[in-house]
Parts: sequence; structure tokens; C-alpha cells
Amino acid sequence: MKKGLLAIALFCLIGCVSAQDIQLVPPTKTGGKPLMEALSERQSHRSFEQKDLPAQTLSDLLWAAYGFNREGLRTVASSQNKQEIDLYVVLSNGVYLYDAKDNVLKLMIEGDQRAALGQPNISENAALSLVYVANIDKASNREAGFIDSGLIAQNVYLYCASAGLGTVARGSFKRPDLHTALKLTDQQEITFVQPVGYIK
Ligand SMILES: Cc1cc2nc3c(=O)[nH]c(=O)nc-3n(C[C@H](O)[C@H](O)[C@H](O)COP(=O)(O)O)c2cc1C
Repeated sequence: MKKGLLAIALFCLIGCVSAQDIQLVPPTKTGGKPLMEALSERQSHRSFEQKDLPAQTLSDLLWAAYGFNREGLRTVASSQNKQEIDLYVVLSNGVYLYDAKDNVLKLMIEGDQRAALGQPNISENAALSLVYVANIDKASNREAGFIDSGLIAQNVYLYCASAGLGTVARGSFKRPDLHTALKLTDQQEITFVQPVGYIK
């Protein structure tokens, strides 16, 4: 009886942990391909193997995309240093917000929301999809959100070229559907999405 209760308690504990925030491993900030090689190999890929990224790769990708590389400042420039972009990470089990300061993926929405990303032929096998969300009330102007997202997206392209991963910036998706699925406010605007995965 006691053993049974213990097993249930353990099961609940594991279940709770798996549905919670994901603490990322510290990013590796060295290595990778030389910049000119990564630029030579940068291209869009639209076909992915169904395979998750290892913990280290996930952390490195997110740091390259939008991590802090100096006190309070990031691997990308932003208009007037507003840092108005939130980087959402859509995994098969939920939607997370990248908290670069604490190196954590904060669980925002539980469950598979990938159908709202559109273009399933591209997105369904990707290990993850990044969703760029501009906070309009924080941005210097609306255009800045799109420009600043583009800078992050290029970091992702270059990291992927360096790490042998595939990615593609995607502007074709139903904005209202994804906005609703991500439970965003009217002060938030999705600029575009970017799946990442192993190239098929
Ligand atoms: C803002 C933006 C939106 C894009 N939207 C899509 C898209 O919705 N679907 C898609 O397959 N590719 C999309 N692309 C990728 C372009 O089609 C691609 O970059 C272009 O064909 C050049 O190919 P390359 O990236 O391999 O050099 C987009 C690229 C950008 C920059």
C-alpha cells in the first residue's frame, strides 16, 4: 500500500516537473564554424527530421538568437535598445517564453499548439518553432519590431548554418489564429515565425 502511494507521489512529481519551466544548461559561447563559412552555408531549409534538439544545442541556439552577451545587452541590436521582442518557443508539449536573464524557458501554455503555426509541411517535423512577438507598448515604433525580429532571425540562420541545422523565416501564417493560440494581448504583435530542426 505504502509502495503504491509512493509510486503515485513520484509519478505526480515527475508529471508536474515535465509540465513546468525548463531550466536550460549554460550556453557554450565559443566554437562553431568561422563566420565566413557560416555565411557561405546560410540558406533556408523547409524539410526536417522528426528529432528533438539536445539540451546543449537548444541553449546555444537561444543564446545566439537573443541571449545577453554583456550586462543587460544582447547578441542583437535593438532600436533605441528597447529590447521589445519576446521570443516564444513552440515545442510539441507546449509554448514557452525564453527568459535570457535566468536562462529558462518559461511555460506559457501547456499542450500542442503547432497547428496554429500554419504551413504544416514545414513546421510539423521541426524540433521547435520560434515565434517573434513584438511588444508594441515597449517598441520605439511598429516597424522597429519587424526590423529587430529580423536581426534575431539572422542570428538563428547563422547559428543553424554553424551547427548543421536547418531553419527558415516564415511570414505566411494566420496571424489571428496564432495570436489567439499564444494568448497574446492587443499590445503584442507577431512579426514572423522560424522553425528550426535537423535537415531532412
Ligand atoms: C520576412 C520573410 C518571410 C518569409 N516567409 C516565408 C514563408 O512564409 N514560407 C517560406 O517557405 N519561406 C519564407 N521565407 C524564406 C524566403 O523564401 C527565402 O529566404 C528566400 O527564398 C531566399 O532563400 P534562402 O533563404 O535559402 O537564401 C521568408 C523570408 C523572409 C525574410
